[in-house]
Amino acid sequence: MSRIWVKGGRRLQGEVTVQGSKNAVLPILSAAVLNPGITELEGVPDIADVRVGIEILRSLGAEIEWQGHRLSIDGRGIRPEPVPEELGERMRSSVLFLGPLLARFGEASVCRPGGCAIGKRPVDLHLEGLRQLGAKFDLSEERIHGRAAELKTVQIRLRLPSVGATQQLVMAACGVTGMVTLSGCAREPEVEALCCFLEAVGVAQIRGAGTSRIRILGGGCCRSTRFFVPGDRIAAGTYLAAAAGTGGTLNVQGISPWQLKRTLQLFRRMGCRIQTGEDFIRISGRAREAVPYLATAPYPGFPTDMQSAFLTLAAAAEGKSVLEETIFESRLSLAEELNRMGAGILVCGRRAEIPGGARLHGASVRGSDLRSTSALARAALMAEGESRVEGWEHAERGYESFTEILSELGGMIRKETEKEENSKVLKNETEEPKVLL
Ligand code: EPZ
Repeated sequence: MSRIWVKGGRRLQGEVTVQGSKNAVLPILSAAVLNPGITELEGVPDIADVRVGIEILRSLGAEIEWQGHRLSIDGRGIRPEPVPEELGERMRSSVLFLGPLLARFGEASVCRPGGCAIGKRPVDLHLEGLRQLGAKFDLSEERIHGRAAELKTVQIRLRLPSVGATQQLVMAACGVTGMVTLSGCAREPEVEALCCFLEAVGVAQIRGAGTSRIRILGGGCCRSTRFFVPGDRIAAGTYLAAAAGTGGTLNVQGISPWQLKRTLQLFRRMGCRIQTGEDFIRISGRAREAVPYLATAPYPGFPTDMQSAFLTLAAAAEGKSVLEETIFESRLSLAEELNRMGAGILVCGRRAEIPGGARLHGASVRGSDLRSTSALARAALMAEGESRVEGWEHAERGYESFTEILSELGGMIRKETEKEENSKVLKNETEEPKVLL
């Protein structure tokens, strides 16, 4: 368990080069199973989920060298070993090892991912599609055992544009000598990055990545490859939101603005100035205008992973905002924690009504997932007084050096040492509550 201390009230200023994308590199780590040669990745973020992915590759027999943000994966020794429980349980995306193992070896055994704080998150679309490709499964509470004597050419229609199911089926289709057509696909940039990686390895020719219809011609000849992981659009959006919440000026380098089109429109709508170039975004001014209605949606709609950022900004903006979460069924628990800071948000099912105009104050709060925990740190930077954010291990799953970067930008924020965790009470929590007569 870890936690951070934050004191609000300072504008964030400066420049940050964004980390490599968590949601692009995780499927690419599992796709490296398809390459019996050397895969070299540049721009790999040093985050907890990546470390778990690397341990899984090691447990499958890969030779790994990791220095700074450069990762070398030697796939010659990979075998279809079962993914160890203690690793698979720590990262939902470990289910994405299923497709590549089936494609390369015709067998796979992975952990069955349970639900998490944001929703039940079943993998029925993954299994349905893999069955259509010819795989057979033994399922238990904890595990998925798969076998495929041969994967076949098929046309698969996805009921939902699931990011994970699209990535899973694209990787499995690389094991088919012939054309596989997927429709109803997710169009997220992370799906496109995976397809670019698979083409670079040479394991398949892929058409339509980034659209809802993807065609994969598998059975290609693999070659050793060097691939650059793209910048993390959600991490970039997170830093932009931190600046927008404190009225600061920030230049975010290493990100393609087109990947954040809807998010940048929202910042402009809330009153921020946005300038962009080929690989940078500059934001200035406070997000002070409410947004009457906003709904999350699959890409290119407003990303559910940026929803917590909006909730935090809207709490302090002038006027009422309404947010609808359409992707995950329980991703508004952040509101309860923000209400401890004075946000006054009303949640009804997947809808949040944010009255706005709140002067957030410091408090002890707890994060329950990656994005809500980072949102609480940003709310604390916007608030008056000191805060403590518990559950910081959630944020460390996906953000590299988050507190250090925000501190360099002028924020009063740091991880608490174990000793501090046991002692200190927040200054703004020392006074005895006044009894109003
Ligand atoms: C990816 O999760 C991301 N994770 C999530 O980011 C992101 O929120 C999500 O896509 C949506 O953009 C990674 O890339 C590692 P989905 P994924 O399959 O693939 C339902 C973060 O904070 N569904 O697109 O798991 C599902 O329950 C994380 O970085 C089924 O019903 O998301 C959800 O309601 C959180 N059956 C919806 O589809 C299935 O078989 C979208 O899920 C699969 C999904």
